[in-house]
This record gives sequence, structure tokens and C-alpha cells, in this order.
Amino acid sequence: MRPKIIAGNWKMNLSEKEALALAIGLKEKSSSLPDDKKAVVFPSSIHLAAVSRILENSKIAVGAQNIYPAPLTAMTGETGPDQLSELGIKFALVGHSERRQFLAESSSFCNQKISYLAKNGFTAVYCVGETLAEREAGKTFEVLGKQIQEGLGSIQSDLFPRIWVAYEPVWAIGTGKVATPAQAQEAHAFLRKEISGLFQEGKTISDSIPILYGGSVKADNVKELLSQADIDGGLVGGASQKLDSFLALFK
Ligand code: 13P
Repeated sequence: MRPKIIAGNWKMNLSEKEALALAIGLKEKSSSLPDDKKAVVFPSSIHLAAVSRILENSKIAVGAQNIYPAPLTAMTGETGPDQLSELGIKFALVGHSERRQFLAESSSFCNQKISYLAKNGFTAVYCVGETLAEREAGKTFEVLGKQIQEGLGSIQSDLFPRIWVAYEPVWAIGTGKVATPAQAQEAHAFLRKEISGLFQEGKTISDSIPILYGGSVKADNVKELLSQADIDGGLVGGASQKLDSFLALFK
């Protein structure tokens, strides 16, 4: 049985004041969150230390939006998993479309990050998704297949309990245009099949890996999306960045 997950990606949207106020509000409400759902928030790296202290001993886990896959080392501007471990952080996003689009992050670099994270006890949330041009050109499944093969292909199969996938169609991110439950379910089922095909024990892995949907998830569409057979949760941007709209996702 896969868990149901609500994850909030705060992106670079929040000031320190806003991020801390949101974290304090979440801490106050945390005990009333349903026990049958996992909650994780991903603040900017500059807010990770403060937010993780506020949410310590709450039902809400904290993760990083990005990592560099190496031990403590000379790597200007980056954040390493060892530094996150010191804060008790055990989750990280990998390959968000904004990093792929604007920072040229490749699936093969994502592969290094996922492997490093999972080997070091983190849960890596690997983001994949097609652009509008790719969908309109009929290339959705080709693009998703390539992202899965390059990102997850050579990962040791025993690391999969520490890997989640997030399907985030780029055309649905921050646009208010949400994929229909049928479109999202079709993509999720395809991703599960692709993951299954990567390994000998693929069926066991693909049956147990959580796959989240991201792209304009809100309180009024989350229930229908999460009721699809292959959708295990939401990776939410805008609606996770305000206390009321984030809490409303759990109702
Ligand atoms: P929105 O929910 O704002 O569309 O963002 C989705 C996203 O990119 C989550 O990672």
C-alpha cells in the first residue's frame, strides 16, 4: 500500500518573514493533520535551517529544493546532503522543471543526485514532465520515457524505497491549467510501466514507488486527482505557499 503524500514546493517565492510565518502556522496546526497522509515542505535553502527547527517534532517533514551530490567540499553556491543531515533534513527534490528549463539541469546529472541521496539515507523526489510544445507535438511519452531511463536507469534497485517520482507537466505549472485526472492518470500509469521495465524486479519497484502529480494542484482539484489509481499525492507550488490553501489540501 503506497502512502498518500502532500508536498509543498515553496520555490523562491517567499521572503524570510513569509516562510517563517508559514512554518509557525503549520507547526500550530500540525497535530490536526490526518495521520493517513504524509506532509513535506521544500523551502528555499536559505530558510531550511530556521524552518526545520520550527517544524522539528511535528508531522511535517522538511526537504531541500536541490542538492549537490558530494560530501563537504569546495563547491561554491551549492548545498550538500551532509549539511542537510545536520539539520535533520532527509528529503530533496531533484530535476524540477524550473531547474531543467532555466539552469540546464540534465537527467544524467539528476541520476547522480538521486543515487547519491538515496545511498546517503535521503528520499529523492525525481521530477519529470513534458513542455506544452512537446505535448502538442505528440512527444509526451517519448520525453517521459527518456527522463525515466536517464534519471533512474542505472540506480541500484535496492535504493528504490528512498525514491519518489513527481509528474509535473510544465504547461500546468503555475499556469492555473491543471492536467485532467485522466491525462494525469495516463501519464502516471506510463511512468510506472517505464520504471517496471528498467529492472528485473521492476514490478515490485513500480508497484511501491510513490508518484506525485504537480501542476496547479489546489483544494478544489486535489481530491479527484488523488483518487486516480496511480496518483499517490501532490507536489504543490502556489497553493502550498499560504497557510489556509495548504491546510485545505488535507481536508
Ligand atoms: P504550481 O502548483 O504553482 O502549479 O507549481 C507546481 C510545482 O512546480 C510544484 O513543484
